[in-house]
Amino acid sequence: MSTLVVVGSQWGDEGKGKITDLLSKEADIIVRYQGGSNAGHTVVKGDEQYIFHLIPSGILHSGVKCFIGNGVVIDPQSLLQEIEDLKKKNIEVDGNLFIDFKAHVVFPYHKILDEIKENKRGKDKIGTTKRGIGPAYVDKIARIGIRMIDMVNGKSLSKKIEINLNEKNDIFEKLYGLKISNQEKKDILKKYIEYGQLLKKYMIDVSLHLNQAINEDKKILFEGAQGTLLDIDHGTFPYVTSSNPIAGGACTGTGVGPTKINKVMGITKAYTTRVGRGPFPTELTGELGEHIRQKGGEFGATTGRPRRCGWFDAVLVNYAVRINGMDCMVLTKIDVLSDFDKIKICTSYKYNGDTIKEFPINIETLQNCIPIYEEMEGWKGDVSQITKYENLPKQLKAYISRIEELVKTKVVIISVGPKRSQTIIREKVFK
Ligand code: GDP
Ligand code: IMO
Ligand code: MG
Repeated sequence: MSTLVVVGSQWGDEGKGKITDLLSKEADIIVRYQGGSNAGHTVVKGDEQYIFHLIPSGILHSGVKCFIGNGVVIDPQSLLQEIEDLKKKNIEVDGNLFIDFKAHVVFPYHKILDEIKENKRGKDKIGTTKRGIGPAYVDKIARIGIRMIDMVNGKSLSKKIEINLNEKNDIFEKLYGLKISNQEKKDILKKYIEYGQLLKKYMIDVSLHLNQAINEDKKILFEGAQGTLLDIDHGTFPYVTSSNPIAGGACTGTGVGPTKINKVMGITKAYTTRVGRGPFPTELTGELGEHIRQKGGEFGATTGRPRRCGWFDAVLVNYAVRINGMDCMVLTKIDVLSDFDKIKICTSYKYNGDTIKEFPINIETLQNCIPIYEEMEGWKGDVSQITKYENLPKQLKAYISRIEELVKTKVVIISVGPKRSQTIIREKVFK
């Protein structure tokens, strides 16, 4: 049995797509377990860049099966677009992509709700991707959501859309002065029946197939979206997404029991970034932050928004290690820090005169935490072509060792650029 969960250690965009693609050459199945088209996972193959929102980042490897688990919310339009784009590039999708019947579906009214709810929050916006993710999960929890399997049967879909839109129209009219007309309702039904017909060939019972594969000793990678600090339960609530990106989400989001998970690997950026709003203790708002943003190309893969940038925060990553039961880490984008004379690592926070070492639960506390830094020597040189650990500059090795020491977790892979070849493997991940 060889099962590995790949999870984001920070606020997303750590490079999960690159690493998932890299490890896919050794895997049999890649499965997404939560989130939706809010995710943007970048894979660079040769000179070509692919951005995946719903399709697992292993799809470029022929022979690797890609599953979308029950925990994902699926926008059929976005998924069909991704499938079409891949087919245009001669990537084999049919026969390699499978979607769980139980996954919930994103509808146009979820996107409308996402937008108007954000606007209503005024200055206190979350900064969502406006992909309808939150409202789709709300419907799932409220037991009114519509699942992939419902899209296959026109009659049942019509009934469910009717119930949903009656409820939504009540909310729309009373709270926002909007209404989805009968014609719009008909159009939605027509479109989603079409989507159901186009997607039904991909639908399977993911839990059944995954567990069979586990019994056959297949290698399975669970690809998390977003990151630990965006988790609905353990993240910086309310500035979070509406699912469980943490490793535990891999079980509920696919129907695989916790005893079947062998390893949890955190994808950790060598510094910190965040898109959207919410507290960020080590954020650099001035020139340094701008330098990292430009050098690291820190602009959202889904929305194109500039990402907020800051120094590595060991308090935060320590927390991610705990919440995920992380066994090992990948340190990504280390090449981005190559120009600095000095590099800082946050080792604790100061709050009301006290030193805090554990990530605070209370968001107001976090908002008022002042990062305490340790300064390290920079390596001041291009490391993007180095492929062996021994050949890294000694200051960079010291930086990695210090991170390992602070978060008590081994860095098994180091990423020095977006390409597959720009990777240093210290330890084999799939045994
Ligand atoms: P994900 O959401 O975690 O998959 O990450 P994103 O794809 O949203 O953002 C990561 C960005 O960094 C992408 O543009 C990647 O191509 C790029 N990237 C990944 N690893 C490295 C690296 O080691 N160095 C550099 N410079 N870029 C990287
Ligand atoms: P990947 O998988 C970074 C952020 C949004 C916002 C918050 C809630 O590429 O790492 P949502 O649309 O989910 O309701 O927005 O979560 N967010 C991400 N930030 N990477 C992502 O995905 C994200 N997906 C959502 O910016 O702050
Ligand atoms: Mg991303």
